[in-house]
Amino acid sequence: MKTVLITGASRGIGRAAVEKFLENEWRVIGVARNFENKIEHPNFMAEIFDLSETEKISAFVEKIGAIDVLVNNAGVMNAECDFEIAVNLVAPVELARSFSQKMPAGSRIVSVASVAAETGHPDIWYGATKAAIVNATKSLAIEFSSRIICTTLCPGPVETAMLAQIPAERVQMLCQKLPNGRPAFPAEVADSIYFLATKISPEKNGEHFSVGCEKTES
Ligand SMILES: NC(=O)c1ccc[n+]([C@@H]2O[C@H](COP(=O)([O-])OP(=O)(O)OC[C@H]3O[C@@H](n4cnc5c(N)ncnc54)[C@H](OP(=O)(O)O)[C@@H]3O)[C@@H](O)[C@H]2O)c1
Repeated sequence: MKTVLITGASRGIGRAAVEKFLENEWRVIGVARNFENKIEHPNFMAEIFDLSETEKISAFVEKIGAIDVLVNNAGVMNAECDFEIAVNLVAPVELARSFSQKMPAGSRIVSVASVAAETGHPDIWYGATKAAIVNATKSLAIEFSSRIICTTLCPGPVETAMLAQIPAERVQMLCQKLPNGRPAFPAEVADSIYFLATKISPEKNGEHFSVGCEKTES
């Protein structure tokens, strides 16, 4: 049985990704600061860890051991600048680098960025960290010399607690431009994460992909 580690697994997109991998008979390690709404499954293991404590990441990875797929999904918006940079950018890069040494050839790393990587965002640090992780993924793909396939997923608005932080008028305005006229559901984004983690062609190493956005591009 293969193992995936998913950050931000307690709710929203990360939790939907946990369910998708469990349905497909993966062993899943979920990371978040708390799991109030517990996920009960014999193949699921919850790891409480604050990703803003980036200096503890390499010890955390040592404790976890080998994995086959890393999903860097945890993210924060409208927080203090240093905290956003730590969680949205430094932690995913540190996790990728530390786990890479324990991942077999052909493994995958998927990082969840945002359409904001391209459009910008009212929370400047949010948009900037999302653009930075798209770029960092390209660098990691080169660093790992095709041994690990690294991609970024850039969702448009998704129906989660994070979207609830955005004023309703802005959400409405964003949705008017979307093909379905509504935010994506977490399960729809989880399908794309699963695809990138298991099926994407190695030729796409380093690329980024949109889901639930106004226009599609890679
Ligand atoms: N929702 C959207 O419209 C949207 C659109 C584009 C991209 N995204 C991206 O999609 C990803 C998931 O977002 P979401 O909408 O599912 O958000 P969410 O519902 O707010 O969930 C965020 C997850 O990240 C975890 N997390 C936050 N800070 C953490 C920390 N310091 N250490 C460990 N875990 C932490 C949270 O758990 P704890 O709070 O318990 O730690 C939670 O599990 C994020 O990267 C986000 O930027 C979201």
